Amino acid sequence: MILKIYNTKQRLADRFAEFFCNFTEEKVEVHVALSGGSTPRIVFEALAARYSSKVDWGKVHFYWGDERCVPPSDEQSNYKMTRDFLLSKVDIPETNVHRIKGENIPGDEALAYAKILQENIPLKNDVPHFDLLILGMGDDGHTASIFPHQIELWNSEKICEVAQHPETGQERITLTGKIINNAARVVFLVTGQAKAEKLREIVREEGSYNSYPAALVAPESGNLSWFLDREAAVQLESAR
Ligand code: 6PG
Repeated sequence: MILKIYNTKQRLADRFAEFFCNFTEEKVEVHVALSGGSTPRIVFEALAARYSSKVDWGKVHFYWGDERCVPPSDEQSNYKMTRDFLLSKVDIPETNVHRIKGENIPGDEALAYAKILQENIPLKNDVPHFDLLILGMGDDGHTASIFPHQIELWNSEKICEVAQHPETGQERITLTGKIINNAARVVFLVTGQAKAEKLREIVREEGSYNSYPAALVAPESGNLSWFLDREAAVQLESAR
């Protein structure tokens, strides 16, 4: 587990955008799973602002680690956020963008998206093998859309499941541990003081860490990095 700590959210975004550009350079084709939330948004802005002409977007295929079950025009859609801040600003072929169709019946879409992943991404252990899988972590320790109250979804035999938000009940489509831990490289983007306690518990394996889905992310490849801002990492540094 590699921890990269940056003074500000913006610095984290700039450094991750640089990492992403270098990462794609090494590949002929790259299959990337994106996460939603506020942290990726500033990364997308940094990518669009400074790397739109430096990345060969024709080799990049975007997927999502989770999506809210809302139409793509809905402000809560992870796809819409990505389109607004990145996809509309770079020259990526439409056919390279594989969105989860939040407007469909959730159970049907979980099956349909699993099929899309199986058909478009090279397999390892008979499971789609993402080159890069980007995750966030909620204040409650959730990741993708696997929340603590449904942590059993992590061990599903399926690679996509239907989950529910614990407060709103909103249905979500989410990848599961089977495909997340099969990725070649997993990167967490975590910022803000609200994440500090859960992050310390997970990194130090303290408290209730094993009840947080984010603590279950352990790619077989061993390639797991956390891009953190100083606020999220504050309890780690004081613990040193
Ligand atoms: C979502 C995200 C979710 C997110 C975390 C962290 O659909 O909401 O995929 O898992 O990554 O909630 O979000 P922030 O980056 O906004 O803290």
